[in-house]
Amino acid sequence: MVGPSGSGKTTAAGLISRFFDVQEGSVSIGGVDVREIGKAELMNMVSYVFQDSRLLKRSIADNLRIAKPDATDAEIREALRAAQCDDIIARLPQGIATVLGSEGTYLSGGEKQRIAIARAILKKAPVVILDEATAFADPENEVLVQKAFIELTKSSTVILIAHRLSTIRNADKIYVFDRGEVVETGRHEELLGRNGLYSAMWKEYQSAISWKVGEAV
Ligand SMILES: Nc1ncnc2c1ncn2[C@@H]1O[C@H](COP(=O)(O)OP(=O)(O)OP(=O)(O)O)[C@@H](O)[C@H]1O
Ligand SMILES: [Mg+2]
Repeated sequence: MVGPSGSGKTTAAGLISRFFDVQEGSVSIGGVDVREIGKAELMNMVSYVFQDSRLLKRSIADNLRIAKPDATDAEIREALRAAQCDDIIARLPQGIATVLGSEGTYLSGGEKQRIAIARAILKKAPVVILDEATAFADPENEVLVQKAFIELTKSSTVILIAHRLSTIRNADKIYVFDRGEVVETGRHEELLGRNGLYSAMWKEYQSAISWKVGEAV
């Protein structure tokens, strides 16, 4: 999903995990209306990585065990590795046992989002909704988040709300939102050929990148 700020992407994603229900139409997973799926079952089926992921002031391991209470340390390390968190763990004084929020262990928005992706990987939910953080300070982190995201797509259907068009470029299907409605759907190349909102957003994105590159020189 892509679209201007306030176009309804987060709201639409919230319908899947039933943060609220539709007023008309329906949302189904594998042909079953989400309103007919039990709450606990739906929670096991859908993992949600929030736009602004908050972590508990507990250890990294405990933060991941929310998704799977009986996970072994080996499973936790594997999920963290898949989510490209090795650099974060290496930096922390007690590795996965480091308590977040204690002295010197503050994580950036992008780092928190990678830990949240590790949690989703550990949970192995069939559907993962990833609401990409609006802005990351550094491009290196952006690359890592994208790699983590690709790992996630190997085992789950990922619904990505993208703020950077580079992330969504390879999606099987792109939904373009505008003022609460889906105005275009298709793959990247198809949408570019349509010369609509997506194509305009892509052009703007491209010029923003070249502007940034120009500035760095
Ligand atoms: N709890 C709410 N009650 C009423 N309106 C809301 C609520 N949350 C969001 N809205 C409105 O719904 C619209 C869509 O918001 P939404 O958060 O889905 O946008 P978005 O596409 O995710 O934007 P962004 O890219 O900034 O994250 C906005 O106009 C917003 O003000
Ligand atoms: Mg949003």
